[in-house]
Amino acid sequence: MKRFMTLLACTVAAMSVFAADHAPVLAGDPAKGQQIVSTVCSACHNADGNSTLPTNPKLAGQQADYLVKQMKNFKAEDGKPAERINPVMNAMIAAYTEAQMRDIAAFLSAQKRNGEIAKNSETIEFGRQIFRAGDQSKGLPACAGCHGPTGAGVPAQYPRISGQFAEYTESQLKGFRAGERTNDPNRMMRMVTTKMTDAEIKAVSDYVAGLR
Ligand code: HEC
Ligand code: HEC
Repeated sequence: MKRFMTLLACTVAAMSVFAADHAPVLAGDPAKGQQIVSTVCSACHNADGNSTLPTNPKLAGQQADYLVKQMKNFKAEDGKPAERINPVMNAMIAAYTEAQMRDIAAFLSAQKRNGEIAKNSETIEFGRQIFRAGDQSKGLPACAGCHGPTGAGVPAQYPRISGQFAEYTESQLKGFRAGERTNDPNRMMRMVTTKMTDAEIKAVSDYVAGLR
């Protein structure tokens, strides 16, 4: 019994060392993040991440891990070029460390997204169909299969796409399709979008803008 208790104590100690090692690196400090967002990023993304111009994506309510990944992808490091190209963001993010990116993400992911609305009533049904079911006849998978039934995303894996500006969503889908945006893991979004027509991209982008 005594031996067992010693073993148990060792295991618990090992577990708490593990937690102490990892927790502070992963969890950002939202107060520090807010300070950076309100002084620097707010010019385009607003103080709470609810951008008002469609060229600047909404960041409020986005998955924290996805935000960190994008910030890292925008930053050129160790002599390697940035994985995601956008002259504005490549410049904006250059000064920040990964710890600061986690602070920023902790703040932004906790903000409530003010969603957009679907504007084209004629294509809403078509957009909904692509989002929910894809098109089996040509192997187009349902967006919901990865981004979730309400487009809210899945922590650490898939970003939120619901409530985003249709113009931004459309530009990203076309960017993936043209091979201009290439930072998607396992080419997931490039494979999806090469199966899509302009009309499908437009309809689904408008539909997800109104999703909650
Ligand atoms: C001058 C305007 C401007 C400023 C200031 C700015 N951004 Fe951006 N940001 C953009 C634009 C434009 C895009 C879209 C890039 C694209 O089309 O690929 C973007 C995209 C992003 C994305 C990717 C969003 C997504 O859904 O993939 C993140 C994350 C981001 N910005 C974070 C920041 C942070 C953090 C700051 C402050 C340190 C900041 N931005 C400051 C204009 C700006
Ligand atoms: C097999 C899984 C998968 C499917 C199916 C999928 N996506 Fe994605 N999507 C991803 C992943 C992973 C990313 C993140 C890429 C990255 O890390 O830059 C992403 C990113 C995106 C982005 C960029 C978000 C941003 O803020 O910049 C948009 C827009 C998007 N997907 C829309 C769609 C739409 C619309 C569909 C359906 C036609 C779809 N996706 C189907 C996995 C998927």
